[in-house]
Amino acid sequence: MFLETNILNFRIFITCVINLLVMSNKIVIANWKMNPKTPAEARRIYKGIKKGIAKVKGVDTYVCPPFIFLSELSKLGVTLKTRLGVQDAFYEETGAYTGQTSPEMAKAYKAKLTILGHSERRILGEDNKLIGRKLLHAIANGFTAVLCVGESERNEEGDYYTFIREELETALVGVKRGDLKKVIIAYEPIWAIGKRAEEAIDTKALYEMILFIRKVLIEKFGRTPALGVPILYGGSVKENNALEFIEKGGADGLLIGGASLSPEQFIGITKSAALVK
Ligand code: PGA
Repeated sequence: MFLETNILNFRIFITCVINLLVMSNKIVIANWKMNPKTPAEARRIYKGIKKGIAKVKGVDTYVCPPFIFLSELSKLGVTLKTRLGVQDAFYEETGAYTGQTSPEMAKAYKAKLTILGHSERRILGEDNKLIGRKLLHAIANGFTAVLCVGESERNEEGDYYTFIREELETALVGVKRGDLKKVIIAYEPIWAIGKRAEEAIDTKALYEMILFIRKVLIEKFGRTPALGVPILYGGSVKENNALEFIEKGGADGLLIGGASLSPEQFIGITKSAALVK
């Protein structure tokens, strides 16, 4: 198949590139989604994570709680190891936008990063254009934007590659080469989210998708800026499978949902990420 040949030809070049990229810190992001239920519980989890990863080297960690807990957690402090982020951020600073929160507001609580385009928001109606608008506004405000992409199913013909290309190309319209250092891509196949560890993606399929995403970024932005963009994996990452996605799958880090609500699991995942130099 033409696409597969292309990907394979590209693999040798990218392997060299990956060797260069492993010099940078891995990135592990906790996406708490609409959890936990109380501020007391949020504080307990955050404190546990903060303490457990304080001495882990070589990993940048972000915790993204619901907005309502951001103020509480920022009072507990952020460190170079544990930073705060948000799960979404709107494309205007203030105004008549019921229910929305802007990066400018989140900034006051030490948040430096926002997840954008998560599949659980796309399913509520967000499209690539809207996500792209939010992304431009977030990076203009000094935020790092984590753009989530991922297909809902796979077929023999490989149509999902076209789908991922479209997600990337549309959501990144207007992003300048120089802005790319504020962008992280999180590949999260929808079919692998919220499952058991055994149901996550296999590392060969992940490796191929990461190469493909890198290729799309190079085509759009040129080699040098595109090579600096971290590409994370998310979808049923647990303590017992985290290592393989980085070591064999070639991910630059991980986006963690369910397991990030357990300090033990999240610390274990962060330590696994630290093992890959
Ligand atoms: P999961 O979620 O780790 O629970 O699969 C990942 C995500 O949705 O970001």
